[in-house]
Amino acid sequence: MRVAIGSDHAGVELKNEIVSILNEMKIECIDLGTNGPQSVDYPDFGDKVSREVSSGKVDRGILICGTGIGMSIVANKFPKIRASLCNDLFTAKMSRLHNDANILVIGGRIVGKDLAKEIVTVWFGTEFEGGRHANRLGKIKLIEERFLKK
Ligand code: RB5
Repeated sequence: MRVAIGSDHAGVELKNEIVSILNEMKIECIDLGTNGPQSVDYPDFGDKVSREVSSGKVDRGILICGTGIGMSIVANKFPKIRASLCNDLFTAKMSRLHNDANILVIGGRIVGKDLAKEIVTVWFGTEFEGGRHANRLGKIKLIEERFLKK
């Protein structure tokens, strides 16, 4: 499992915590920045991580901004991306079980590091259920393809 991770300035502290958590979990992690508290634009870092996942260069992605909303909007513009904003454990679990989410988005100004650790653990530890949920993902793919043809 290879994971790309990125954040803006509002998410950088939590991003660095999550990099350590992934190291502890022995999950290979590529940190695409940002690396400091200077103000940056979240679309730039959402772009870097989402293109890695969308192209298949990595298996999954993690994005953190202040609320997680901006990063979610950016990531879900990319083909094959199912980014889920998970600021609680139930959503993290369901995003894997029902949505086969491939990018985990967290709000760095909302979630503390202990909860983030639980969210990351649940998210990587939960498999997609398939079945009727796979049919629904198929419908999302058809919608995506409609736009790619234009
Ligand atoms: C940055 O101030 C903030 O707008 C950003 O981190 C994010 O919350 C956007 O959705």
